[in-house]
Amino acid sequence: MEPIQQTYQMPTADQQLLDNGQGVIDPDVFFELNTPPSNLADFESKLTAFVDYHQEKNTRLVFITSGGTTVPLENQTVRFIDNFSNGHRGACSAEYFLDAGYAVVFMHRQFSLQPFHRHYTHNASMGFLDYLVQKDDDTIAVDSQYGNKMKDVLSKYRAATESNRLLFLDFVALSDYLFKLKSGTRILARLQERVMYYLAAAVSDFFIPSQKMHEHKIQSAGGALTLTLDQVPKFLTPLVSVWASKGLIVSFKLETDDNLLVPKARQALTRYGHQVVVANMLHTRKQTVTVITQTSQQVISLSQEDLANHVEIEDRIIPQLVRIHDGWISSDATKACQQ
Ligand code: PMT
Repeated sequence: MEPIQQTYQMPTADQQLLDNGQGVIDPDVFFELNTPPSNLADFESKLTAFVDYHQEKNTRLVFITSGGTTVPLENQTVRFIDNFSNGHRGACSAEYFLDAGYAVVFMHRQFSLQPFHRHYTHNASMGFLDYLVQKDDDTIAVDSQYGNKMKDVLSKYRAATESNRLLFLDFVALSDYLFKLKSGTRILARLQERVMYYLAAAVSDFFIPSQKMHEHKIQSAGGALTLTLDQVPKFLTPLVSVWASKGLIVSFKLETDDNLLVPKARQALTRYGHQVVVANMLHTRKQTVTVITQTSQQVISLSQEDLANHVEIEDRIIPQLVRIHDGWISSDATKACQQ
């Protein structure tokens, strides 16, 4: 018997007028059609306090986005589509940026990997309690075989948090992420060229606008389900030209077809006019990346020896980006002198 298909394609007249004729709405329209997250005011006040503090200290700051966004299928969400990313790239990078003297805003998918904590979470064979032992006097301690490494990680973590150089902020759904991206970049904009935007989050390219979504849990009684997803507007366009125009913008390009990787990364640089794309392949992203700017292309790879010594590729990527940021800041200073 043919399955009965449920379809949820209900474009309103308004929606049709607002898109660009190709089914893609303008980024500004996205914010009019979607409801801001309920914790946006809290997000803004934490970020504003952090930026005030670092503006006075003249610190360099990196805004890292990390982890994947979800796309809900129902307004009262039971089901959602997820994007690939466990947040390793972002969490790991945050630690190397702290080592390089940056203050870090770590905007991550809730419950994805976090800097420092990542060494003890999301491990298939070790849970939190497996690091602990119960002693004869009934107190609890860290198992001595893990103690030395944990002491190192803990002291770096404490140093970052006690000096107020690490701010954790989170998101879950695509619209949550986009509202916070817009608001966050605008708050950071006053630090001008001192901010690097490191957009490692895996952001969905397709979504269901809330007016087209079912309010309640989709029922299975109707048979098979057919979904139509709209295209998400390309938010790098307003981010580069308006929201964060003075900062150094590093976007990522993830592909699975090797032949597409560098051309698509170059295409992004041309289309958006920003400074850096870090291009990576799904299956080799921890061993090799290509850092592409308007005028250069550098492959960064780990050798077999590096891998045997547990070197992380972010240990090589971040110093390279810091050098590019040095150049960005001094070229801005040169421009200012010439005016
Ligand atoms: O977290 P891990 O498991 O370690 O994985 C890391 C990673 C592979 C997710 C990371 O290294 C990476 O490549 N992140 C970017 C993935 C991605 O969304 O690529 P994209 O080609 O779809 O988007 C390219 C850029 O455009 C991204 O910087 C994204 O933030 C931005 N974008 C995407 C969609 C959209 N509608 N607007 C955007 O601005």
